[in-house]
Amino acid sequence: MNPLRSFRSLVRFRPIELRSSTRRLARAASVDDLRRQARRRLPRAVFDYIDGGAEDERTLDRNVSGYARLEFRPRVLRDMSNLDTSISLFGRSLPTPLILAPTGFTRIADPEGELAVARAAARVGVPYNLSTMGTRSIEEVAAVSNGPKWFQVYAWRDRGLIAELVGRARDAGYEAIMLTVDTAVLGRRERDVRLGTTLPPKIGLNTIVDGIIHPAWTYGLVTNEPITFANVAGRHGLDGSSAITLADYAASQFDPALSWDQVEWLRSQWDGPIILKGVQTVADAELAVAHGVEGIAISNHGGRQLDDAPPVVELIEPVAQAVAGRSAIIADGGIRRGGDILKSLALGADAVMVGRAYLYGLGAAGEAGVDHVLAFLLDGLRRTMALTGCRTIGEIEPDLVTWRRDDPSTTPWTGGH
Ligand code: GLV
Repeated sequence: MNPLRSFRSLVRFRPIELRSSTRRLARAASVDDLRRQARRRLPRAVFDYIDGGAEDERTLDRNVSGYARLEFRPRVLRDMSNLDTSISLFGRSLPTPLILAPTGFTRIADPEGELAVARAAARVGVPYNLSTMGTRSIEEVAAVSNGPKWFQVYAWRDRGLIAELVGRARDAGYEAIMLTVDTAVLGRRERDVRLGTTLPPKIGLNTIVDGIIHPAWTYGLVTNEPITFANVAGRHGLDGSSAITLADYAASQFDPALSWDQVEWLRSQWDGPIILKGVQTVADAELAVAHGVEGIAISNHGGRQLDDAPPVVELIEPVAQAVAGRSAIIADGGIRRGGDILKSLALGADAVMVGRAYLYGLGAAGEAGVDHVLAFLLDGLRRTMALTGCRTIGEIEPDLVTWRRDDPSTTPWTGGH
C-alpha cells in the first residue's frame, strides 16, 4: 500500500480560516475560554473594568463558585426527544428563560457595543436590557433589534431625566423597565482604582503602550465615533465624552436618597412591568411585592457593589419561597453555563440574567462572540435538561438539585436575611 495514500486517507486538513476572530472562536468551548481570549485581546484597564468586582472580590467569586456547590439528581428514561425551553414572563411567551443584563459602557469592549449585543439577542429571541449608561441610544438599539427589549434606569438626581428616558423607551417599543436599586453610591472596584481607570480611557503613557500591545482594539477605538453615554448625551456636562472615574460620575448623578417612594414614582411614569434589580434579602423582596413590582432581580451587581453580599445562588430559594409567585424572580450573577440556569430555576427563579458572560464574548470576538456565548448557554441548558430528565421548564423541580454534602463550606441559607 502506498504510504502517502494511506496517510492522506487518515488526515483531513481543515480549510485555512483567514479571519482571526473566527479562528479564535473555533478554539473556544466555554464562556471561560472566551474570558481568557478577551483578556488577551483587550487592554488591561478595559478587561479589568469588565471582569473586576468590589474590594476583595469575594462576592464576585462566590457568585460563580456557588453554583458548584449544587449537584443534580438526574432522572433517566424519560424520552428526551422533544425539549421545550419556552417560558411565559410578564404575559409574554419567550423561547428561553435567559435575559441579557444591562451593562454600562459596552462600546469599550467592541466598537459596535450595545448594537452587537442587541442583534445577537434578537436572533435567538432573548430579551436585551439596555443600560442608561449604555453607549448606544434607546433609539439606535430599537433600530437594529425587533426582539424583546427592556430598559434599565438608575435613580438619577434629575427625575425629569428618568421620566424622559422612560418615555423614550415606551415610544421605541421597550417592554419593561428595570430599576437598579443597589447603587446609592458606587462600590469600590479596586482594580479600577489601582489602574486609575476612567471612562472613556484617558490617553496617557500606559494607554499608549496598552494600545500598541492590543492593536485590533486600538484600531476599533480610533476609527469609530467617540464613545459617550448615548442616552444622556446633551443632558449634562458629564455625558461620558470627557474622561471621568465611574465613582465620580455616579456620585454626581445618582441620587443617594433613593428609597421606596422612587419605586412608586416610577409606577406613575410607566404602566408596564417594573423589575427591581439589586434585591438581596427576603425582607426587601417582601417589600418589593408589597410595592406591587412585577419582577425582582436578585442581584449584587455582579459583585461590583457590596463585597460580602450573599452570592445570588444562595438567595434564590428563600426569596422564591417568600415571594411565592406574587412577583417574577430573576437570578442575576455568576451564571457561566446552561447547567447554572437549570440550577437557578430548580431553586425557584423564573428566569436568569447574564452580563459579564456576554461581555467576554463581545471582547473576544465582537458580535460573533456574543452569538457564541448565547449558544454555549442555550445549548448547555438543553443538554443539561436532557441529561437530568426535564422535558419542559415546568418539569424543573426543586428536588432536581441538592447542596453538595461533601463540601465542608456548604451551609445552605438558613434564614436571617
Ligand atoms: C455599572 O453599572 C458598572 O457596574 O460598572
